Amino acid sequence: MASKDASDAARPLGPRAEHVAIIMDGNGRWATSRGWPRLVGHRRGAERVREIVQACPGLGIRWLTIYAFSTENWKRSTEEVIGLMTLFGRYIESEAERLSAQGVRLRFIGGRARLEPRLRELMAAIEARTAGNTLLNLTVAINYGGRDELARAAARLAGDVAAGRLALEDAGEAALAARLDTADLPDPDLVIRTSGETRTSNFLPWQAAYAEYEFTPTLWPDFTRDELAAIVARFTGRERRFGGAKA
Ligand code: FPP
Repeated sequence: MASKDASDAARPLGPRAEHVAIIMDGNGRWATSRGWPRLVGHRRGAERVREIVQACPGLGIRWLTIYAFSTENWKRSTEEVIGLMTLFGRYIESEAERLSAQGVRLRFIGGRARLEPRLRELMAAIEARTAGNTLLNLTVAINYGGRDELARAAARLAGDVAAGRLALEDAGEAALAARLDTADLPDPDLVIRTSGETRTSNFLPWQAAYAEYEFTPTLWPDFTRDELAAIVARFTGRERRFGGAKA
């Protein structure tokens, strides 16, 4: 076989985790095991989000998608739901400057109609403000459920066919994917769930059809950059050929 050039030799053998999606679980247990209110765990969880976002570019991650609030999470106490919504708003307000300066593009997926108008405004404003950034694409899933997203996309598809904007024979996989909230995102390579649970909980069921999954017992507030780096390294495979044959 012809010899490879230097850039090829330096490339890792395995696939690259360019799009990592995370189910951030365990905030409640982290707090209650210390005798603290669950919201303290969520606040600590938000600090972890900050740290992990900063770590991503250095780990070769270009897309990070995080599950912040599911369509099922409305069943929690009013206090917890309001606390989480307040936290999301504060996160956007406090991080806007930093994310813009860091080159992070922030987007949201999930149904917005049920969210407070003030939160929706903050979401739209930061999406517009960071739209030109390219270093890291951060997508936060709020009021997100994979089945809900698919149902909304299917309704749009049906509407487009009924209105004559789309031919029935063109209503295939690509047409449906283009109507998902994630239409502008690549599929995730790797999905991580913290806290020891081994469910996928309605998170990106269409998009993660071919993703690798990693489940760690670490509770989200304890999840560090180092653990993320170790998981990504496992996914990627550290073996390099440096132009030679595999040992
Ligand atoms: C799951 O843990 C976590 C959530 C439902 C909320 C996720 C929110 C954050 C990490 C905080 C802020 C996020 C952003 C984007 C600023 P759980 O409460 O279900 O934990 P448990 O299973 O131990 O009860």
